[in-house]
Amino acid sequence: MKHILVCYATRYGSTVGIAAIIADELKKAGYQVTLSPASDVHDPGSYDAVVIGSPLYMGKWLAEAREFVSRFRNSLKSRPVAIFTAGFTLRQRTGENLRVADEALDSSVKLFISPLHKGYFAGKLDPDRMSSADREIIKLTGAMPGDFREPDEIKKWARELPAMLFG
Ligand SMILES: Cc1cc2nc3c(=O)[nH]c(=O)nc-3n(C[C@H](O)[C@H](O)[C@H](O)COP(=O)(O)O)c2cc1C
Repeated sequence: MKHILVCYATRYGSTVGIAAIIADELKKAGYQVTLSPASDVHDPGSYDAVVIGSPLYMGKWLAEAREFVSRFRNSLKSRPVAIFTAGFTLRQRTGENLRVADEALDSSVKLFISPLHKGYFAGKLDPDRMSSADREIIKLTGAMPGDFREPDEIKKWARELPAMLFG
């Protein structure tokens, strides 16, 4: 049975929910799956494939996810990898929003790996849980608070993964 690592970075916890939906779908498809924060992974080289995701913060993946990709680039180059990104801008997956989200990955992620599949998902903004600095930033952007994660979209993407990762 192939073993897939699904790992994630998160600041306020909502990306864990996205990663968990992906992990569940892969389990349902018959794979062995390990779900883990990216910062807890010691060796992605022991998996047959890796899925790594992060929310965007100020136009970038979180540092733990960027560090994961940079640190393990050799392992990640020699096995199939998929990535996903969450953010409030991805409520509308317009060409422009996808382009901006994708550009954010150019120097930090795509420099090191060539993902076979990429997911873009709406995230969750909960001002009550945020640091006051983050709350201020969000106020300035005018972004609407709420949980905009779309389980059906995430499941749909996850069901495409086996074919993309293993052909
Ligand atoms: C300070 C701050 C900056 C953010 N910057 C972006 C951004 O540049 N682009 C975007 O699409 N979403 C942005 N977001 C939204 C987060 O990516 C989104 O809320 C995500 O679902 C949070 O994931 P988490 O709960 O796992 O930390 C930002 C949120 C905060 C609080």
